[in-house]
Amino acid sequence: MQLQNTSLLQNRSFINGEWVDASNAETFEVINPANGDIITSVADSGAVETEQAIAAASKAFPAWSKKTAKERGAIMKKWFNLINENIEDLALLMTTEQGKPLAEAKGEITYGASFIEWFAEEARRVYGDVIPTPANDRRIITIKQPIGVVAAITPWNFPVSMITRKISPAIAAGCTVVLKPAAQTPLSALALAYLAKEAGFPAGVINIVTSSNAAEIGKVMTESPLVQKFSFTGSTKVGKMLMQQCASTVKKVSLELGGNAPLIVFDDADVEQAVKGAMASKYRNAGQTCVCANRLYVQEGIYDGFLEKYREAVASLNVGNGTDAGVEIGPLIDVEAIEKIKRLLGDAVDKGATVTVGGNEHSAGKLFYEPTVVEGCNSKMAVSKEEVFGPVSPIFKFSTEEEAIALANDTEYGLASYFFTQNLARAWRVAEALDYGIIGINEGIVSTAEAPFGGMKESGIGREGSKYGIEEYLEIKYLCLGGL
Ligand code: SIN
Repeated sequence: MQLQNTSLLQNRSFINGEWVDASNAETFEVINPANGDIITSVADSGAVETEQAIAAASKAFPAWSKKTAKERGAIMKKWFNLINENIEDLALLMTTEQGKPLAEAKGEITYGASFIEWFAEEARRVYGDVIPTPANDRRIITIKQPIGVVAAITPWNFPVSMITRKISPAIAAGCTVVLKPAAQTPLSALALAYLAKEAGFPAGVINIVTSSNAAEIGKVMTESPLVQKFSFTGSTKVGKMLMQQCASTVKKVSLELGGNAPLIVFDDADVEQAVKGAMASKYRNAGQTCVCANRLYVQEGIYDGFLEKYREAVASLNVGNGTDAGVEIGPLIDVEAIEKIKRLLGDAVDKGATVTVGGNEHSAGKLFYEPTVVEGCNSKMAVSKEEVFGPVSPIFKFSTEEEAIALANDTEYGLASYFFTQNLARAWRVAEALDYGIIGINEGIVSTAEAPFGGMKESGIGREGSKYGIEEYLEIKYLCLGGL
């Protein structure tokens, strides 16, 4: 990996504005999933460093929160500009540690930076209210203030944007942050921290603790009385555990957890549009997003027309190392991801499904899997209940709108869903009937800084991005002005 700006490659935690080794001098390796090469070793910080980072964030909070929104926004905009100036290097770093194709990595950095720009501006619109009084001798006013120190844990599938989607609203609101990035992808996080330092954030406002021991760091973060807010993106299983730990100090939580996104193609859909949308939703990041279409429900009248084009599109995807030109599908993150696909496909085939495209490990290397289509799926198969998190499209045939809605909602998850129809009345009806926080109508990719991202049911609590995202980092204070 040849970076133009070699300072972006950092390998120690970033605490109180300094680069810090683990106190026990331990490190862990960061591996390139495309070829198994060790990229570098990174400080394996633990409870001690997490406490130090929380103390630094707590010390930095009073001064940072007292800056005006415009002052905080000015530093954030410098950070935004620096990220854009270093986009080529940041993309290479991301592809090397995470595997996604370079074009997708660049897209993610632009997407990630957009949260910084959005919240730098949004902080100036944190309004309170003057509420009509029920008594003439008093007035009711509300103000909003930053909640305090925020702790956050982010996943490996979006090494930049999941960080900026949490840090940006927090620091824009006036909070300070301690964040643990995923052990698989700490380098993008540290590069962001390097650029944050360059942008001029005061020491302690942003702290990054790198560690291979998420449970140890998570316990300190969730149980610390100095932390007022905890934000996590990851699995529902881990999210539930962390939420329980947060109960001991009654912290405000935001949780972006698992999904099991249905994508419904109705008979009255535009076939080209549906194929394009389904491909974009399913195969982004090799199927490793929480909002990837996980179950494709196709109505019987359009089934043959849709599947003919869809099989062709999936079979033509270019698999390989994300740094190679023209590659669309990179490696999966680890061996467990490959094993999961094999288990889910095996179960589906045993119960009567048929693989019509792909279905094997790919010759590009140990962590590559062929883009796959498996047809004839039903609700008895594990693939209808579990997140695939890989380049596999399970196809289910259905007859009526009511049936599709019932099948789509038959899950404990409620993050993203998609459907394709040219009928306006159906579009409105189905959107209201789906129990999901995010609904793409004739669109396969809907994430953007301006819109609220988040789930219902066991997919989480709270929203990120949009005008709602900053509310997660604010407290409402009610002022009663009496004796008038
Ligand atoms: C995720 O998979 O958690 C995030 C995807 C997105 O922001 O679109």
